[in-house]
Amino acid sequence: MLKLDSHPSGRHFLQIPGPTNVPDRVLRAIDQPTIDHRGPEFARLTFEILDGLKDIFQTAGPVVIYPASGTGAWEAALVNTLSPGDRVLMFETGHFATLWRAMADKLGLVVDFVPGDWRSGVDPAVVEAKLAEDKARTYKAVLVVHNETSTGVTSRVAAVRQAIDRSGHPALFMVDTISSLASIDYRHDEWGVDVTVAGSQKGLMLPPGLSFNAVSTKALAASKQARLPRSYWRWDETIAMNRQGYFPFTPATNLLYGLHEAIAMLREEGLQAVFARHQRHAEATRRAVRGWGLDVLCRNPAEFSGSLTAVMMPDGHDADAFRREVLARYDMSLGTGLGRLAGSVFRIGHLGFFNDLMLCATLCGVEMGLAVREVPHRKNGVAAALAYLEESGTPASSAQRRAA
Ligand SMILES: Cc1ncc(COP(=O)(O)O)c(C=O)c1O
Repeated sequence: MLKLDSHPSGRHFLQIPGPTNVPDRVLRAIDQPTIDHRGPEFARLTFEILDGLKDIFQTAGPVVIYPASGTGAWEAALVNTLSPGDRVLMFETGHFATLWRAMADKLGLVVDFVPGDWRSGVDPAVVEAKLAEDKARTYKAVLVVHNETSTGVTSRVAAVRQAIDRSGHPALFMVDTISSLASIDYRHDEWGVDVTVAGSQKGLMLPPGLSFNAVSTKALAASKQARLPRSYWRWDETIAMNRQGYFPFTPATNLLYGLHEAIAMLREEGLQAVFARHQRHAEATRRAVRGWGLDVLCRNPAEFSGSLTAVMMPDGHDADAFRREVLARYDMSLGTGLGRLAGSVFRIGHLGFFNDLMLCATLCGVEMGLAVREVPHRKNGVAAALAYLEESGTPASSAQRRAA
């Protein structure tokens, strides 16, 4: 087997904000014989997964599964609902919003891209003003990245929905939840989202390779009129075949086994507990960053991300050289600075299959790396995080909860 890890003992710490650590339970589920994807057992698998996904997206509507990375689900959201030359409203919250915008350009959409500082989320007041200005109702969709994985900033989706409602604008609302689903509270139906885009490799604790569109009734109606070319990404054919438990193409059978197990794990822990765990680890991480005397990239506490923290490197210190040192010495991967943040930011992923001691080890690796690289800092980061973990109460393990 290809040797990916040159360290002789212990586990690699994969603390990038996705792909995340895959639980052994999920790996074991994936490691089952591939079955006939047109056979009776497969239909049962499909029905159970589609049922579980409804809980996770918090929707009663259909969720379409693609054997694709998140980028495929971005494309599916656009090509199923829009027509060439349609105007869409997007926000420059960071690298991923910029990439989604570039895709919209390539597909022949006309993007109004509201500039941003890569440290803030979407401003609901700007959404309202932009839509109110659009008297002719030319915007066909408002597109928001819920959790900007490049910056650790979470936009307030419910507040954006309220802004759209106040303007009375009929545009579709599409949200990328690739690094928030199953980590940060997200409610497709309640928040009136028309298309939710998601991926397997973050909060869902799976390897990369699956992605999703949750689809509202309004989006389904729009898909009947939409004229962007589409074939593989068509929702209607998949939704129709899913009713029988099958797919119009060969599905990623073994990843679906993993998804089935991941849904079981999320149900056992309970979604609210999953969200609370992420918030608690995020707060402990921010306390560590402040304890080191460094800054979190996200400006607004109401937009702090539960799934990752982007840390600003002091001037004159290269974040990538720091990351390389941490990998070489401690076998831990931290997230790189993306796009315009290259070299100036590193990202700590604290999402997915993760617990208090994994967080402690992660923060120790960062603190030791800062010392080795002689990055000016105080030695108070890990101590501050430990104090917070203690004061906020270590949650009972699921085994203890079951026994209680
Ligand atoms: C918020 C966000 N959107 C989109 C993507 C693109 O997804 P993928 O790399 O799975 O194609 C990512 C990937 O990390 C992401 O974090």
